[in-house]
Amino acid sequence: MTTGTAMQPDGAALPGTGSPPAASSGATFARYATNAEREHGFEPLRIEGRIPEGLRGTMYRNGPGLLTTFNQPYEHSFEGDGAVSAVRLDGLEQRATGAYHVVESEGLRFERDAGRPMFSSRAPWRTRMGNALRRRFKNNANTSILVWRDRLFALADGARPTELDAGMLTTVGETDLDGLIAQTFSAHPHDVVARSSIYNFGVRFGRKTQIDLFELPYKHRPARRLGQVELAHPVMLHDFVATERHLVFLVSPARLVLWRAALMLTPVSKLVRWSEQDGTEVIVVPIDAPRSVTRFRVDPFFQWHFAGGFERGGEIAVDLVRYPRLNSLHQTGERAARCGTYHRAIIDLARRSLTSTEVTPVGCEFPQIDPRRSGSAFRYAWCVADGAAGDSITRIDTETGKTVVYDLAASERASEPLFWPRAPDSGESDGWVLSLIYDASTHTSHVAVFDANGLQDGPVARVHFDHHVPPTFHGKWVPSPA
Ligand SMILES: [Fe+2]
Repeated sequence: MTTGTAMQPDGAALPGTGSPPAASSGATFARYATNAEREHGFEPLRIEGRIPEGLRGTMYRNGPGLLTTFNQPYEHSFEGDGAVSAVRLDGLEQRATGAYHVVESEGLRFERDAGRPMFSSRAPWRTRMGNALRRRFKNNANTSILVWRDRLFALADGARPTELDAGMLTTVGETDLDGLIAQTFSAHPHDVVARSSIYNFGVRFGRKTQIDLFELPYKHRPARRLGQVELAHPVMLHDFVATERHLVFLVSPARLVLWRAALMLTPVSKLVRWSEQDGTEVIVVPIDAPRSVTRFRVDPFFQWHFAGGFERGGEIAVDLVRYPRLNSLHQTGERAARCGTYHRAIIDLARRSLTSTEVTPVGCEFPQIDPRRSGSAFRYAWCVADGAAGDSITRIDTETGKTVVYDLAASERASEPLFWPRAPDSGESDGWVLSLIYDASTHTSHVAVFDANGLQDGPVARVHFDHHVPPTFHGKWVPSPA
């Protein structure tokens, strides 16, 4: 167990957060958000098609995979225990292996020893009261993956990282990274390639609410806390932007109701209150002068995720999937038309202004960019979007607004598409795109590999698990050493 808040929000992560769900879709995908049939170490996976020769590495995914414990389903997928899948691809040898493990947190082990729920909304009232008083909660590590200095971590917003054994995918345990992390470490760390570092934040709750800022250099220098920024209220803050010079936060008026979160009260939608009058606060922190913060408020809007951001003259460009307001948390996990669209926001620090322009009206989520351009200018973003039959994988040209689309079958659901370049010096859209796809018609999951230049032509390879993988939020492609 650990101390802190129990909130681990990741609403948009499951496809279709927002609008009213289609009934038939709900029936088709009813088995998607259920426990996987089994856990296992790396074992051969069936290859359909041909893995591109130059593609060698491992795709990691994380999401709330343990959704029923002690014969009781969690009230909401946010409560689910993290489960990490890993698929190793070797295009040269045409080999694929995969592993799947639930994160064995201290809290989950404690519950298993007790033989009953001890932390979730399914725990007895008295137990939850005791947890709240002792500031005890389960770190279910169910949101994303961090790879830093060859170490593998499962992340969730309201908690510290949980280290995993990269070779076995088994759980090592929670870590504060040698005292670096006071309370939480968000599930959205971002590389700034030009600075050879990863940046992240953690919201610290207490008498004051503040954002802790972290820098994790790729090599040599120790990780450090850059500073902190105080917030007026406890809020749900899920993602941010790191450019070559700045850390940027767009703090939506999504106030957390901490006492409800501490008591694990349901429904989850009541853990956050949309406080329209607060507006969205723009906070810009210079990485090299973290005390010189610029902050101002603009009209309210909400985002779960950013594609990236970069310096543009004296301005900062920030790409996000923007929602008019916080969409309903209780609908997370059900298929519906997305109501967030891809925007580019321009922040002018001198004028203290933010101007947001819709790039394309297509509903989308999980924007990803070429990882070589993280923190710098980019043209293309890859996302899961509304498609003809349900989900699509879509490439957005942020300069023209034009899209390239691959429509999935009606029985399929996509996860966040990950781009990887064909070669270190290849063009921005020259590479591969990988997505873990669930197929309700077979109740199995596979990794679809697309040639990024021919996305619309469909996967060049599919690598199949013989079981399904429950919905995942975020992941990472890690290339094999050359
Ligand atoms: Fe997320």
